[in-house]
Amino acid sequence: MDIEGNKNMCGIFGCFLKNEKAAPVIHSSLKRLEYRGYDSVGIATLFDGAVFLKKGQGNIDEVHKSLDLDDLPGNIGIGHTRWATHGAPLQVNSHPHSDCTGKIAVVHNGIIENFNDLKLELQNLGHTFVSKTDTEVISHLIEEVMKSKPSFSFADAVQEATKRLEGSFAIAAISSHEPDKIICARNESPLVLGINDNTGDVYCASDITAFLLLTNRVVIINNGELVVLTAEGYLIKKIRDNSLIERVPEIFQWTAEMAVKQGYPHFMIKEIHEQPEVLRNTLRLQDHYLDLMSTFLDRATEIFLVACGTSYHACLAASYMFSKIAFLPTYPVYASEFIEQYGKSVNIDSTILAVSQSGETADTIAAVTCAQQRAATILSLTNAIGSTLTRISRVYIGTQAGPEIGVAATKTFISQLSVLAQLALRLAKKRGKVSQDEIDTTEEQLDKLPEIVNSIVKTQEDKAKQIAHKYAKSNIFFFLGRGISTATAFEGRLKLMEIAYIPSLAFPAGESKHGPISLIEHGIPVVFVCQKDDTYKTAISNIIEMKTRGAKILAIIEEDDDEVKALADDYLEVPKNIPGVLSPIPFTIPLQLLAYYMALEHNCNPDMPRNLAKSVTVK
Ligand code: F6R
Repeated sequence: MDIEGNKNMCGIFGCFLKNEKAAPVIHSSLKRLEYRGYDSVGIATLFDGAVFLKKGQGNIDEVHKSLDLDDLPGNIGIGHTRWATHGAPLQVNSHPHSDCTGKIAVVHNGIIENFNDLKLELQNLGHTFVSKTDTEVISHLIEEVMKSKPSFSFADAVQEATKRLEGSFAIAAISSHEPDKIICARNESPLVLGINDNTGDVYCASDITAFLLLTNRVVIINNGELVVLTAEGYLIKKIRDNSLIERVPEIFQWTAEMAVKQGYPHFMIKEIHEQPEVLRNTLRLQDHYLDLMSTFLDRATEIFLVACGTSYHACLAASYMFSKIAFLPTYPVYASEFIEQYGKSVNIDSTILAVSQSGETADTIAAVTCAQQRAATILSLTNAIGSTLTRISRVYIGTQAGPEIGVAATKTFISQLSVLAQLALRLAKKRGKVSQDEIDTTEEQLDKLPEIVNSIVKTQEDKAKQIAHKYAKSNIFFFLGRGISTATAFEGRLKLMEIAYIPSLAFPAGESKHGPISLIEHGIPVVFVCQKDDTYKTAISNIIEMKTRGAKILAIIEEDDDEVKALADDYLEVPKNIPGVLSPIPFTIPLQLLAYYMALEHNCNPDMPRNLAKSVTVK
């Protein structure tokens, strides 16, 4: 039985209970969805023909402590645990979101791409918005339909409203106009129903984890479907043509732990599999964020790209992207070295683009604070909106990856690369130094990356597992790449080292003959990241250098690369024709898989590498 992963951030839950108060059940179900997001939470219920609503900033326990989330009347309700994408994690941006009258409440998981246009249209019609979220347009849109088409039922109004939405959504909506139902709808973001035959209760949720302790009878909702939950059960129809769909529940034999990991053995492999969807989300970034940040970068006199660990590798890759297609020089710097290296020279003309998944890494915050005190402009990319980094940045962009639970960064790295590539493309357009043709091809390939990454995960996972088994006894690995693939090689090495504990070295391939090559002896595996750009021919010479000294060549190559296939002992492939500046995205995937399966070969838990923490808040 197939169920989708964490399509994006946030968890939604709704229930129609026969004999119980809804709020405590919503509260405990949201707790089980907390791994999908935890920066704010809210619940709305229906009772006596009215909507009751509580919401607040903070994780569920914090909000419950101050608001008592269980203390809401009624046996029908919806709830939400949030990971901010639009609007900081403040009370006002928390879900559920209401319309102008307070008679409609909506929870949403996903990203509404056209929310700015819809908001403007609704504001012109007199609607007042209180939040900065994309979701709030949905409740006002439903309100507007109900006002302009009085013959419409609540379900009709939700259906009509969803036809206007572009992007991804799983929503659950209630209204005091018809206080005997919950309406849900789905496009791309996951939505499932739970049917409890013992109690007659029905649930809707982002995933089955939310209700698995109550029932394992599950109905999966597909894209373009709308659901009406009532005392009688559920009714599913197509949003497009109103046709009814009959679907009986399936039985899920998952444990609660399996459900949180969507059936995967570890978060890391689940998160690797989520990468196509994460890329899709990053491609939905609002144009004005990218425009604003690229304008700052375009005007900057000197730009430092500051980060730690994997995020530093994203910065390193970005320095090639910015240079190659935007002709913009930038300086990637380890955050832990920034103050010593540039602390005295950074000034009002400097711009810092800090990259941090958590937005809390102590070294990154220290570097940024130092630069800020010297009047530099601070820009940032982070996966945690509301984090310290966002608070001290002039402009920030959320990397849209959703919470990452595995300690080793995977999907957040891919999302950082995608946002940085989009920024490089904006800059390329602004600066007009490369041909329109090159920009068009790069943009086309960028749009295809979700599919490309999906195909890599599907076709290379078994091969990566076999290669990990074959090389499991090797006690040292080399990682080499030229040009932008240096960053990919560095990241491949970090992943292998941190989760499988195998000592590994990574160098730009050209550097290897200035020292590291002396370590090469018969049988040592050398992982070559070999994209077909201007560096290709020299990379082949470097492969031969290693091979003639007895190294085992493990190449990451494009699928039509027969020349390297002939030299390599083993290889993992990515689709062909990927522009060099985008290559770290696809080429990193086989390296993540290799590290993951190597960790399993060594009986290491890839989710919790020793001595490491997800957020490093000490220097
Ligand atoms: C490696 C990893 C770390 C982080 C580093 C920075 O897999 O996760 O190297 O990349 O600690 O963390 P952030 O990006 O939160 O600043």
